[in-house]
Amino acid sequence: MELFPLAARWIHLLAATAWAGLLFFFVLVQHPALAAARADGTAAGITRHIAPRALWLFRWAAVLTWLAGAALLGKGLLPALQLAPGSILIGVGVWLGTVLLASVWLIVWPAQRIALGLVPADEARRGQARRVAWIAARVNFVLVLAAFGFMAAAAHHG
Ligand code: HEM
Repeated sequence: MELFPLAARWIHLLAATAWAGLLFFFVLVQHPALAAARADGTAAGITRHIAPRALWLFRWAAVLTWLAGAALLGKGLLPALQLAPGSILIGVGVWLGTVLLASVWLIVWPAQRIALGLVPADEARRGQARRVAWIAARVNFVLVLAAFGFMAAAAHHG
């Protein structure tokens, strides 16, 4: 077995696990916990100490997933992006991964910076940013389920 594709596949799987795992954590654990923590005044522990660290890993794991996936595809990246015959399953997976990566960096992270108070903003703007981040996380949750499906189908049923 060649070493390069094996290493790229390994990195892709580790990074995708970290990325999607954190998304599950945000949607299924942190968000409900924050609602409860706000009610008893302990939310700062999450917003100051947990969320910024989790978001750091989340957004860089997304980049690594994309890069390792692209390395794995090599010359097959362009046909996948063009949804060429024979590359449709992996192509849809790549597009889902690309939309997700863009959403993490262009929607979720800027909104979370405001929501978590990492950049100055009034309370109304922070509330609005919280809402945007929450809607984006839910949409991404569904998209990541689909991305896993297309990746698995491309690898085993393509
Ligand atoms: C949310 C984003 C992504 C997730 C969760 C994800 C997950 C996975 C998983 C779990 C596999 C292994 C499938 C299996 O062996 O059953 C896989 C394979 C693969 N992924 Fe991804 N991936 C994502 C994005 C990407 C992107 C953006 C690219 C390319 C730029 C990519 C390229 C590949 C390739 C080439 C394979 C190997 C397919 C094969 O063996 O035929 N992935 N991915």
